[in-house]
Amino acid sequence: MKKGKEQSSMDDKLISRLKEFYKLETFQVAFYKAQADSAANEYYGKVFQKLVNIEQGHADYYADLIERAGEVVPSFIGSVFKLAGDFIGEGVEQIGQHDTCTLGVMLENKAIKKYRTFIKESKDKNYIEIRNKLMEFLLDEEFHALWLREYAKHHPN
Ligand SMILES: [Fe+2]
Ligand SMILES: [Fe+2]
Repeated sequence: MKKGKEQSSMDDKLISRLKEFYKLETFQVAFYKAQADSAANEYYGKVFQKLVNIEQGHADYYADLIERAGEVVPSFIGSVFKLAGDFIGEGVEQIGQHDTCTLGVMLENKAIKKYRTFIKESKDKNYIEIRNKLMEFLLDEEFHALWLREYAKHHPN
């Protein structure tokens, strides 16, 4: 069920990438939302709410492209920390504020790596519009990683 010129040029590999990134971004929303909701400190809560909003914008972009291609947007079940463990390949149930930022850095770094690969692929395939968005999102993730790393450094417990 493909509609229009732009949509019909989307191949299966791209669709699966969009779903993969939708999942990654949705997970980031859930992870940061858990931090924002449980934040005891007002500033810390605001930071994480800001991250939630940005990651939600990323997720929405992929959801929109997936829908426009006539595909089903994936849905997820399970706890955020279970997903985090799946994502980075270890258990992360018991963590405090410092470790939350450190885990956030790990997740952002993983996202950054994936974005760089996707950007290279989209260059090869000439997906100019998508590639521009990917660059913007990559920069967001890089800023997130920098902020989280800096915060963790100055709040060691
Ligand atoms: Fe993101
Ligand atoms: Fe991010």
